[in-house]
Amino acid sequence: MRLDNKVAVVTGGARGLGQAISERFASEGARVIALDMGELTYEAKNVEFRLLDVTDREACKQMFDSIVTDYGRIDILVNNAGITRDAMTRKMTDDQWDQVIDVNLNGVFNLTRFVGPHMEAMGGGSIINISSVVGVFGNIGQANYAATKAGVVALAQTWAKEFARKGVPVRVNAIAPGYTMTDILKTVPQDLLDKFAAMTMLGRLAEPHEIASVASFLASDDASYITGQVLSVDGGMRL
Ligand SMILES: NC(=O)c1ccc[n+]([C@@H]2O[C@H](COP(=O)([O-])OP(=O)(O)OC[C@H]3O[C@@H](n4cnc5c(N)ncnc54)[C@H](O)[C@@H]3O)[C@@H](O)[C@H]2O)c1
Repeated sequence: MRLDNKVAVVTGGARGLGQAISERFASEGARVIALDMGELTYEAKNVEFRLLDVTDREACKQMFDSIVTDYGRIDILVNNAGITRDAMTRKMTDDQWDQVIDVNLNGVFNLTRFVGPHMEAMGGGSIINISSVVGVFGNIGQANYAATKAGVVALAQTWAKEFARKGVPVRVNAIAPGYTMTDILKTVPQDLLDKFAAMTMLGRLAEPHEIASVASFLASDDASYITGQVLSVDGGMRL
């Protein structure tokens, strides 16, 4: 089991992609701490749920401290918590802009600022930022979301350099999923989803487990020479 004895933290781990990633990591031998501000929607062996709003800086620091106290170390961090508040730029409210920046970008910084240096001090680790096909190509009505998803790619590339500066193997990568069947797509009309499916080379949207398997690969030593990369998992989509 390639994640045997690893301690993995997954934000937004209560449902959707975070659930698929948490369950997959646990099935590969990891002890997983799923962090979320919403209730856990499933039960899985070796997945412990803890309540956290990633926009709360002080709570992130306390959560980091308590996980290290309880588990001894963190080997894997998946920055997965994310939201959308879509609107055309001319109609986007300050709240829509601020909320998405706060969760999708500030939230990633709030935990990683502690976990990255911790991994450096412990001798290694793997950090995965969940970006999006929208962060690579942009998308109408998603200026806020696209900006954050491009931002987490830049953070991954920066942290890949910063945390490995002393030669310690802390690897930091981003995954850019295409449209994947989770609650986040609830507000997207079916005809638009069909259109997105037709824009992929495979002619369909992704299932959460297809993103989770890639996260598991990047988290594991199988990916020991991969860092500072964006892995597109989008069925060959071009927006
Ligand atoms: N589903 C897709 O099509 C798709 C495509 C590309 C990227 N993504 C990204 O994948 C990630 C997971 O999305 P999903 O599809 O599973 O969505 P989802 O809405 O099903 O799950 C998101 C989770 O994040 C949690 N969350 C939101 N704000 C939070 C906060 N402040 N603190 C802690 N947790 C918070 C939610 O409670 C929820 O459990 C997101 O970053 C999303 O942008 C999703």
